[in-house]
Amino acid sequence: AGPNAKIARPAGLYAPERRNSRGWDVNEPVDLAALEAMRAPFADHVWHFGSAQAVANPARAGDVVGHYDPARVEDVRAAAAAARNAAPDWAARPAKDRGAILTRAAELYEAHGGELMAILAREAGKTIGDCVSELREAVDFLRYYALEAERLAAPPRGVFACISPWNFPLAIFTGQIAAALSAGNAVLAKPAGQTPLIALRAVALLKEAGVPADVLHLLPGGGEIGAAVIAEGGADGVCFTGSTATAQAIHRSMADHLAPDAPLIAETGGLNAMIVDSTALPEQAVRDAVMSAFGSAGQRCSAARVLYVQEDIAAPFMEMLKGATAELTQGDPWQADTDLGPVIDQMAYDTIAEHVTSRADAWQPYPARGLMHPPTIIPVTGIEALEREVFGPVLHVATFKAGQLDRVIAQINGRGYGLTFGLHTRLGARIAKLSDAVAAGNLYVNRNQIGAVVGSQPFGGEGLSGTGPKAGGPHYMARFTQGAQGAVEG
Ligand code: SER
Repeated sequence: AGPNAKIARPAGLYAPERRNSRGWDVNEPVDLAALEAMRAPFADHVWHFGSAQAVANPARAGDVVGHYDPARVEDVRAAAAAARNAAPDWAARPAKDRGAILTRAAELYEAHGGELMAILAREAGKTIGDCVSELREAVDFLRYYALEAERLAAPPRGVFACISPWNFPLAIFTGQIAAALSAGNAVLAKPAGQTPLIALRAVALLKEAGVPADVLHLLPGGGEIGAAVIAEGGADGVCFTGSTATAQAIHRSMADHLAPDAPLIAETGGLNAMIVDSTALPEQAVRDAVMSAFGSAGQRCSAARVLYVQEDIAAPFMEMLKGATAELTQGDPWQADTDLGPVIDQMAYDTIAEHVTSRADAWQPYPARGLMHPPTIIPVTGIEALEREVFGPVLHVATFKAGQLDRVIAQINGRGYGLTFGLHTRLGARIAKLSDAVAAGNLYVNRNQIGAVVGSQPFGGEGLSGTGPKAGGPHYMARFTQGAQGAVEG
């Protein structure tokens, strides 16, 4: 039915009628022209949210996207005090009123879509397709959580700290805040250090929609501000998306500084596998593997990192996979034929490049340019050969024999992550068996394994990949309240 389909009301479960946003079909020439007309006024705009620090465009050396003033530790303290004061009035409003404000924010995001996408493309290096889907996801989160709040059975916690990543600097940033606000909490929001401008613009729209100034505080800056938000913010709960190591550091700091009952909602890394058996349709599996590994330049926690191909089909499959990878266009994100842009910054580039250059048999279709790390394929014996998640366009490929599948699954599960898993097979019994056997939050069969859709594909992992509950799903918001997990009506 696709993401535009009306979400049906499942019998017996309260699910208000809601549509995901329409977005644009970037394969339609007319739509592309309309999209470009919206973005064009902002193509060379410089956003001034202060003057202290410049924000660079990862795709074009020397292009300054804007300026901002990073928060200081004393700003965190002041914001925490103001949020604490403002929280009771916000909590006392009916959920419907808070939801109406978030719904208005969704409309403002759409009305300002050209500007938001222009910032995403230049600040985060996002392609047109990624800009469109990110805007849609942000809007869908706003509308979804606005409605979800109406069935919460418990009061809000008070003040939530929301710490978000640079890879979805609008969608995840907005989703965390929308859930916390909609449940009735005040928010201290810390966007990623690489992407403050999109956060500043988004917060301006949320406030224009009616979120009171002291209910939502934006604290842009690097890791030291994130640390201060936990240590000095006095939050009643923390919502975090980013690396597993940072989630663990936050957990330790929460133990030192926050009340013992403050929840951590963390969505972290993955070592995601895709299995392609000899019954799979090779063209489809190749297309989905390429999209899952190299889409968004591999900078998704959901991305495929290890591809297991059944030995019987490995030789022709690898030839097709390399052929398809070589066809990917890498370059200026705002070009209709660009498939992948740059990675986010030099540090990210160096970390990926260090991993790749340590593997003598790494394959790349073309050389790197600037922060454009080429799509890379590395043969490995299996998932055990990876030391860690490599957050970029790098796909590791292993082969397996028919009788080894149980061992492959045990090795995948043995790594302790559990975010996404992809399976290409035409064997129904295998789909049923692996769906049970693989520990992963999101399982995708005969399709790509990225781009979960709000409201119909709740997203989140287990183990080293996160705490749950899944974002964009019916259990998420209860954790932002004082109720036990799952304390929802209906
Ligand atoms: N929600 C995103 C996805 O499904 C996270 O990377 O791809």
